[in-house]
Amino acid sequence: MAIPEDVINEIKYRNDIETTISQYVNLKRRGKNLVGLCPFHGEKTPSFTVYPESSSFYCFGCGVGGDVFTFCSLIENLDYIETVKLLAERSGVTLPQDGYDDSMQRLKNTVYDINRETARFFHNYMMSPEGKWALDYYMQRGLSLSTIKHFGLGAAPDSWDSLIKHLKSKGFSVQDMLTANVIGKSQKGTFYDRFRKRVMFPIINIRGNVIGFSGRAMPGEDKQGGKYVNTSDTPVYKKSDNLFGINYAKNHCSERIVLVEGNMDVIALHQAGFENVVAPLGTALTSEQVNLISRYTKEIVLMLDADAAGQKAIKRASQLLENTGLSVRVVLIPDGKDPDEYIKKNGPDRFRALLEGAVSDIEYKLLMAAQDINLDSDDGRLKYLSAAAEVIAADDDVMARDIYIGRLCEKYGVSRTALTAKVDQLRRKNIRQRQKKEINEIIKPVFSKNDLNPDKRISPKGCAAEESFLAVLLQHPDFYEIAKEQMPPENFITSLNRRIYEILVQTLESGRMPDVSVFAPKLTPAELGVLVSLQNGDKAGQNAKTVLKDCIRVILEEKARLSSSDTSNASVEDWAASLKDIIEKKSKGN
Ligand code: UTP
Ligand code: MN
Repeated sequence: MAIPEDVINEIKYRNDIETTISQYVNLKRRGKNLVGLCPFHGEKTPSFTVYPESSSFYCFGCGVGGDVFTFCSLIENLDYIETVKLLAERSGVTLPQDGYDDSMQRLKNTVYDINRETARFFHNYMMSPEGKWALDYYMQRGLSLSTIKHFGLGAAPDSWDSLIKHLKSKGFSVQDMLTANVIGKSQKGTFYDRFRKRVMFPIINIRGNVIGFSGRAMPGEDKQGGKYVNTSDTPVYKKSDNLFGINYAKNHCSERIVLVEGNMDVIALHQAGFENVVAPLGTALTSEQVNLISRYTKEIVLMLDADAAGQKAIKRASQLLENTGLSVRVVLIPDGKDPDEYIKKNGPDRFRALLEGAVSDIEYKLLMAAQDINLDSDDGRLKYLSAAAEVIAADDDVMARDIYIGRLCEKYGVSRTALTAKVDQLRRKNIRQRQKKEINEIIKPVFSKNDLNPDKRISPKGCAAEESFLAVLLQHPDFYEIAKEQMPPENFITSLNRRIYEILVQTLESGRMPDVSVFAPKLTPAELGVLVSLQNGDKAGQNAKTVLKDCIRVILEEKARLSSSDTSNASVEDWAASLKDIIEKKSKGN
C-alpha cells in the first residue's frame, strides 16, 4: 500500500469532498457542515454529515465515516487501490507505475480475464456442431440469435476438463481458475470443470466486466447440483451485490426499473423491448442491490409471481425499499406465470399494460389488508377500515392520502371527516414513533462502538477516557508533546483505540497532520466512523489540556487496576460518575 503520500494528498485535494459527495447525495448546508440522506442506510431525516473543514464525513445513523476515498470506495463498491485509481483518473492525476502493491488488483484483472475467456469458450462451444443442443434449447425458448449474442449466452460441454484444458492453453494457472470459481478441486486433489452440460449465462457488472456465471441444467437433468449453479463469491463477484442485466438496464432506467425473479425473464423482456429489467441472482433482494439500483432510477416495479413465495418476497422488498426515496409499485402477474411465459403468451402490448397498470404500493397494501377479513359484516368492515387507515397514514404524500381516503369513504360509506380524523391521529402517533426511532439511531452508534471495540467491556471507564484522549489529540495535535511520555500506545486498554492511537503516533512522529486520509487505508469504514466522530465531536475548549491529563490519569489507573490481582470490573455507576466528571470539565471549558 505504498502509493506516495503526496500523490494521495494531491488526489484528495483535487477531489474535494463536498463536490464529490454532492454527485451522489443531495446535500444541504447546515452551518459549517452539510447534511443529507445517508446513501448507505435508509433514513427519512438526514443524519449523514459532511465536514468540509476536515474533508471527512460521518453518518450518525449507521456510524459509517471516513474521507473522500472511503466514501467512493463504499458507494462505487471498489477496494482502496481501485478507488485511488478512479479518483486519480477523474481529476487527471497520473499515478506512478511502480512502487505500490497492486497484487489484489492484478488478481482481479486475472479473474476478469479468465471470466472473459470462459464466456468466449462457452459461446463458441454453443455455436459449434457439438453445442447445437444448447443453441436449440435457447431457440426453442424463443430467443433470437441476436439476443443470444447480446447477452453473450453459451453452454458448458458435458465434460470434466474441457474448460481447464482450454484455459491452460491460454496460459492461465489452475490456481487462478480456482479463484475465479470456474473450476473445482476434488477431495483427491484433482481439478474439474464446475459447469457441465448446462446453458450458461455470463453475469456482467456495470462496467461491462464478466464477473461470474449462472448455469442452468437441461430440463430433467437438474438432479445434480440443482436447476441453477452460480459462481460463488470471488474477488470480483459477490452475488448479494449484483443484479443480472444491470449492465444494460442502467442506460434505460432513469424513470423506472423492473425487478423480476429470473435471468430468463430479464432476457425475454429485453428481447421484447423492455430493457429496464434486472433480476437478483438467486437471492432475496438485498440492501446492496437496492443501493445499486437507487443510483440509476426513481421508481422500482416489483414484478413477481403471485404465489406465496412471491408475496413474501414482495413484503421483504418493500420493507427494504421503504426508506430509500424510491417509489415502489408491485405488479402481480396473473395465473402465477413468470414474465417470460406471460409475454410469450400475451405479447408485449399486454405486458406494457400490465406494467402501466401496476398497482401502487399503497393500493397493494390496501389489497393485502383486506385479506382474511369478511367485508360483508359491519364488524369486518370496521376492522378493515382501521387497517386501511394505518396503511394510508404511513404515506407521506398528502394528496395520495386524500385520494385513498376519498375512495375508501365512497366504497364503505363512512364520513370523510371520521376517516380523515382517524388517519391524522395515526399519523401523529407514527411521527412520534419515527422521531423516537431516529433519535435512537443517532444514539446507537455510541453504543454500537461496543461491537467495533469489544474490549470496552473490560473497562468502559478506560475506554471512555481513551476516546476523550484521542478526541483532544485529534483536535489539538500540538498536545502530543504532553501526552507522549506517559502514553505509549501499550498503555491503551482497548484494541481499536490503541490502533487508532498507533496510527496517530506514527503520523505525528513523522511530522504530518492526523488527517482522515492517513487512517482511511488502515481502518474499516465503521471504524473510521468512530474516528471521524471523535475528530468532529464536542470540542474540549480551553480545558482541553486538563481533560487530556485527566484522561491519562484515568487510563493509567484503569490499566493498573486491571493488571493488579483485583480484576473485578468497575461498576457501571463508577463509570458513569467518571464520565460525568470529564464531560463537566469539558463544558466548563466552552
Ligand atoms: P426459477 O426456478 O423461477 O427459474 O428461478 P426461471 O428463471 O423461471 O428459469 P426457467 O424459466 O425455468 O429457465 C428463478 C431464479 O432463481 C434463481 C435463478 O437466478 C433463477 O433465475 N435460482 C433458481 C437459483 O439460483 N438456483 C436454483 O436452483 C433455482
Ligand atoms: Mn421461467
